[in-house]
Amino acid sequence: MDGNGRWARSRGASVAYGHREGVEAVQRCVRAAIKQGVQFLTLYAFSSENWKRSEEEIGNLTALLRFYLRHKLSELHEQNVKLQIIGEPERFGKTLNKELQEAQDKTANNKVLTLTLALSYGGRAELVKATKLLIEEVVKGQLSLDDINEQHLSNCLQTASIPDPDILVRTSGEHRLSNFLLWQSAYSELLFLDVLWPDFQENHFSEIIDHYGRRNRRFGGRPR
Ligand code: IPE
Ligand code: MG
Repeated sequence: MDGNGRWARSRGASVAYGHREGVEAVQRCVRAAIKQGVQFLTLYAFSSENWKRSEEEIGNLTALLRFYLRHKLSELHEQNVKLQIIGEPERFGKTLNKELQEAQDKTANNKVLTLTLALSYGGRAELVKATKLLIEEVVKGQLSLDDINEQHLSNCLQTASIPDPDILVRTSGEHRLSNFLLWQSAYSELLFLDVLWPDFQENHFSEIIDHYGRRNRRFGGRPR
């Protein structure tokens, strides 16, 4: 979800306003996903590199996250959405981390959509963590080197319970992955939209689905 800052600046408004409008776009996106029958939606809300931003901006983003949890969780629950967090949410402090945990517990049995929020997430950091887990198992004698395979590594990632993304979309005209789901996106279709995130509407979601439907996925095989 990129473009909140540019969206705000083009209006002569504060970046904080852009982020606030970005939250509205999240809600539109979730609604559209449900309408389209999408079962898994992962939103890159805060990267491990976003900690480089100013204290003020991080404070605003943290406050928004808290607001989203306190005021929008009941709507998510009513929509039968299961909320899941990946990344290092503990970096947002004890209280918020506890609220995030409670939100996940409350929605754990919901079935319509799994909404994964990537918070203080970085693909490389996730891979390092998974590597450590594997080495620990080997050192403890619970796993032999020969038994380590792709599936095993996937199971050590925070995304173990969700499928690899079919399509990965970045908004705001940038053409980068920016450390998002590096392992998981090996065969994802990539789509780059020019729309700034706060302008994201339901029709953009339909556009994504249409694009996806037109792709011929071969996973390295011959075209069918
Ligand atoms: C939102 O867009 C991404 C978040 C960290 C929430 P940006 O804040 O990166 O927007 P631009 O790139 O400055 O336009
Ligand atoms: Mg950006």
